[in-house]
Amino acid sequence: MTTAQKLTGDVKDIGLAERGKRKIEWANQQMPVLQTIRKQFIKEQPLKGVRISACLHVTSETANLAITLRDGGADVVVCASNPLSTQDEVAACLVKDYSIPTFAIKGEDNATYYAHINAALDHKPQITMDDGADLVMILLTKRTDLVADVIGGTEETTTGVVRLRAMAKDGTLRYPIIAVNDAMTKHFFDNRYGTGQSTIDGILRATNLLLAGLKFVVVGYGWCGRGVAMRAKGLGSDVIVTEISPVRALEAVMDGFRVMPMSQAAEVGDIFVTVTGNKGVISAEHFEKMKDGAVLCNSGHFNVEIDIPALEKMAGSKRPARPFVDEYAMGDGRKIYLLGEGRLINLTSAEGHPAAVMDMSFANQALSVEYLMKNAAQLERQVYSVPEPIDRQIARLKLESMGILVDRLTPEQEQYLSSWSEGT
Ligand SMILES: NC(=O)c1ccc[n+]([C@@H]2O[C@H](COP(=O)([O-])OP(=O)(O)OC[C@H]3O[C@@H](n4cnc5c(N)ncnc54)[C@H](O)[C@@H]3O)[C@@H](O)[C@H]2O)c1
Repeated sequence: MTTAQKLTGDVKDIGLAERGKRKIEWANQQMPVLQTIRKQFIKEQPLKGVRISACLHVTSETANLAITLRDGGADVVVCASNPLSTQDEVAACLVKDYSIPTFAIKGEDNATYYAHINAALDHKPQITMDDGADLVMILLTKRTDLVADVIGGTEETTTGVVRLRAMAKDGTLRYPIIAVNDAMTKHFFDNRYGTGQSTIDGILRATNLLLAGLKFVVVGYGWCGRGVAMRAKGLGSDVIVTEISPVRALEAVMDGFRVMPMSQAAEVGDIFVTVTGNKGVISAEHFEKMKDGAVLCNSGHFNVEIDIPALEKMAGSKRPARPFVDEYAMGDGRKIYLLGEGRLINLTSAEGHPAAVMDMSFANQALSVEYLMKNAAQLERQVYSVPEPIDRQIARLKLESMGILVDRLTPEQEQYLSSWSEGT
């Protein structure tokens, strides 16, 4: 990487900036909570002078978060949290119009992906911001000289939080992290409605399939799975759920879905979406049983949910069928289609979550950074939930922006709910 790139970032084409600017401004209109925080940040400068390295999907919503942090006084650098999720025009605009160094190119190879994370780390962050914990992993394993400067970090997604909690448990986490994903105003909405809608959007943009009447298999009925199943049902698919948790399987049954093991679902499914945060949930034994024309995709964080190496090995040949669709010709003549190389389909072939939902996720990010600035010294090397007052404040602001009022407890009700002696 050249010295100039170190200062400005590494983007596909700076000439795309004007398109990116319009896209960022469009998203901003759908992000009233973040706008409110931004106004407050401009006035109060709570992040004055703090160096932040943010490893996030480089989308128009992320741009609005980066601008908010910058306007709060932070010195921000951005890099991609996935090789295929970058919006090149947004990356260009962040560099050109907002002077935020950005290291992200859609379709970058693995070496470039990690070079970009390392470039963001060269910023010597005091606060890290992650989506999947790749930046923290590199910092804590390969760039340990940087740890002394770090006061805290935030993590956006379920898989990242799982990784970081495992680190905290075995004592390898070296600074406090706020699990933004744990906030109710994040996972209730982003994981469910955001992933639900945008996963379907990604599938449709990649394939243009008619979902009505298809057997649509949702692998994992967690926050994301619930959303994907709900939206596929709304489009007329016959939704089948596979699970390993009896409680979640039961919930899926009572929500009106068929539940069966993957060994059975593999035989009947037309389209499969993995959202487990686990690895190898669709594997060789399942590819064996799939119908000719079966379509596979993933909306979980990493591209390990579908055993792609096994699929590559079993297939006689592979060719692109259309953008973001690879056709695998199996030895027995069947064809299996893999979307977006098994990476998050909502970000590879579509634009990720709608801005209106990222409004709340990124409001949590911004307020969590502010919280870290004030409180990191009192925190241990653990993963913390977003403080409840922040969660409630975000819900209140979002409702206000929608013009929706809610009731308040009367003093009598407050007393009734807080007292053990009532009702006798
Ligand atoms: N696409 C996106 O934009 C997006 C957004 C948010 C989260 N995510 C990612 O999606 C994944 C799921 O997140 P979540 O919040 O729904 O997690 P979650 O923990 O709520 O749900 C995961 C579910 O998968 C089930 N599961 C695990 N292994 C399984 C297996 N072998 N077969 C069937 N089910 C299995 C679990 O029992 C659980 O119910 C994570 O990797 C997360 O980081 C993606």
